[in-house]
Amino acid sequence: MKSVREIIKEKPIIGWLLFIGTMIIVFLIGLLASSIVERRTEAVFAYSPELEFEDRIEPRNEEWGKYFPRQYQSLIETKDTSFRSKYNGSSMIDMLEEDPRLVVLWAGYGFSKDYNQSRGHYYAVEDLRNTLRTGAPIGDKESPMPNTCWTCKSPDVPRLIDELGSPEEFYKGSWEEHGDEIVNAIGCADCHDPKTMQLKITRPALLEAFDNMDKDINQVSHQQMRSLVCAQCHVEYYFNKDMVKGVPYLKFPWDNGMTVDAAEEYYDNMGFKDWTHPLSKAPMLKAQHPGYELYQTSVHAKRGVSCADCHMPYKSEGGQKFTDHHIQSPLNNVANSCQVCHRQDANELISDVYERQDKIIQNRDELEKQIVHAHVEAKKAWDLGATENQMNEILQHIRHAQWRWDYAAASHGGSFHAPVEVSRIISTGMTKIQEARIKLARVLADLGHNEPVPYPDISTKEKAQEFVGLEMEKLNEEKQEFLEKVVPQWIKKAEKRESSWDKES
Ligand code: HEC
Ligand code: HEC
Ligand code: HEC
Ligand code: HEC
Repeated sequence: MKSVREIIKEKPIIGWLLFIGTMIIVFLIGLLASSIVERRTEAVFAYSPELEFEDRIEPRNEEWGKYFPRQYQSLIETKDTSFRSKYNGSSMIDMLEEDPRLVVLWAGYGFSKDYNQSRGHYYAVEDLRNTLRTGAPIGDKESPMPNTCWTCKSPDVPRLIDELGSPEEFYKGSWEEHGDEIVNAIGCADCHDPKTMQLKITRPALLEAFDNMDKDINQVSHQQMRSLVCAQCHVEYYFNKDMVKGVPYLKFPWDNGMTVDAAEEYYDNMGFKDWTHPLSKAPMLKAQHPGYELYQTSVHAKRGVSCADCHMPYKSEGGQKFTDHHIQSPLNNVANSCQVCHRQDANELISDVYERQDKIIQNRDELEKQIVHAHVEAKKAWDLGATENQMNEILQHIRHAQWRWDYAAASHGGSFHAPVEVSRIISTGMTKIQEARIKLARVLADLGHNEPVPYPDISTKEKAQEFVGLEMEKLNEEKQEFLEKVVPQWIKKAEKRESSWDKES
């Protein structure tokens, strides 16, 4: 057999081929090695940062963004308001315009003045300043809302609670008092520990709710944390005025469980009401947004899917996988949100969502009409001289029916997240309101009124607001003045504070 050397001597071209082949292999191995090293540094970059924040909780997303540009870039995409699905999306929808019945249901309460469907997290602070519900605190005039209202809007909240030393120090006082402190929209410090970048619960109300249920929030799984960071804000809550004297303390009504019935029982037992309805005089409850609670009843939750799986799916960029922080309607991103788990095509998945929403909203609208009827019929009964004895039970039915309607309506996304539970809630609401109306018909008959009480003309938002006696022009003018005179001062003061931090470091 010939040696390699003899072969090359006979045909030098083979020597050259061997040489070039070896060089190519060495080159490829080199490429692979450098790519591995590069990925590893990327991974280190993403997961173990050395965030050099001074001794405060850093509220500015752009400061964190210097270490995590991808997460930051995607987070500020919540600024985009261009997407609209059939019922939701990122654009602002004037819900009172869309559905003037709401004005009557919330008569006597802030929501009848102004209620828009939510936009992205980017607008959380701005939208709270803009809404008529926070009023126009100018000079000595106070806002109708307490500081507690800021709690779910900004990473300045954990910063301020830390600086003030306790949640009650943060909650107490009128809303305008923290106006110049709360300026950064929802962000990194709301969900992350800057030292480890692990997910972190920063809101005392959720920690306290777990304590009250004898559950240890430090024992939950990583997958559960991917929902619990959202449960800091997307939940039902109320302001408890008895826990700390004179402080509207933020509390979740979960002591008896997380269902609509458990929360109702909780509120009933403590005799709590958010307001008294000016037409029916019923002691009302306002549901907030029990998104997390309702989600617990869903098929997805039972299969271990978390909020982040659909609303913060993974995304790839330049070969790196990271969590998309553009929190939005998953229908704007079905490929990453749903098709990771479902093989159906996008249109089919979207129509699954719409089908559930359509069916529920049809029943929800019917329940709304029935409740409007009950409020005006109760008013008629009072006008005709009904007694408290005659009315008490009826008012409880109205309270419970509207609570159930609101719980279903206010849990944004609920009709997709938990269609079976939401349907049950609406149908129990329907039973209660029908009982109210049957009893009302009897009371009215006893008082000599034997015809139907006419349904008011509330075909537009303006007509409905006039019907409940709101002076919208005045409210809007005052708000405008507040936005022009007060808010720019808040912003200036905040800028000064933040630039002084930069000088310190
Ligand atoms: C600190 C409180 C807070 C936390 C934490 C929070 N949210 Fe929100 N979220 C809000 C507020 C407030 C709005 C409404 C903002 C507006 O309309 O100005 C909102 C709006 C939204 C919207 C509507 C966006 C749109 O484009 O219509 C979605 C979806 C959403 N949140 C999902 C989530 C998910 C999922 C999580 C957890 C990963 C989460 N949120 C965590 C407070 C919070
Ligand atoms: C509403 C809560 C929320 C906010 C606000 C938020 N994150 Fe996250 N972040 C998450 C969740 C959920 C994950 C996924 C964590 C997991 O599964 O381990 C995550 C993951 C991360 C990771 C790990 C790498 C990755 O991409 O999965 C980094 C780094 C990160 N976020 C940075 C940031 C930065 C920087 C900001 C602010 C610009 C921010 N986050 C704001 C919830 C949030
Ligand atoms: C992390 C995986 C995962 C993601 C992401 C996911 N799903 Fe699912 N989905 C499931 C599982 C698991 C089930 C239960 C199926 C079973 O057990 O047979 C399910 C069930 C469903 C059902 C039937 C149950 C019901 O509630 O009516 C629908 C509809 C559905 N998914 C739609 C969607 C849509 C739309 C999206 C995106 C917005 C989505 N899913 C995202 C895993 C997922
Ligand atoms: C299986 C996927 C999936 C999971 C898991 C999920 N959602 Fe959703 N969510 C949706 C879909 C689909 C919609 C309807 C979007 C639409 O109509 O445009 C929605 C809507 C919403 C909305 C209203 C969005 C808007 O544009 O106004 C909020 C807020 C929300 N979800 C929060 C949450 C929270 C908080 C959790 C966890 C407790 C959660 N979601 C879990 C799929 C999911």
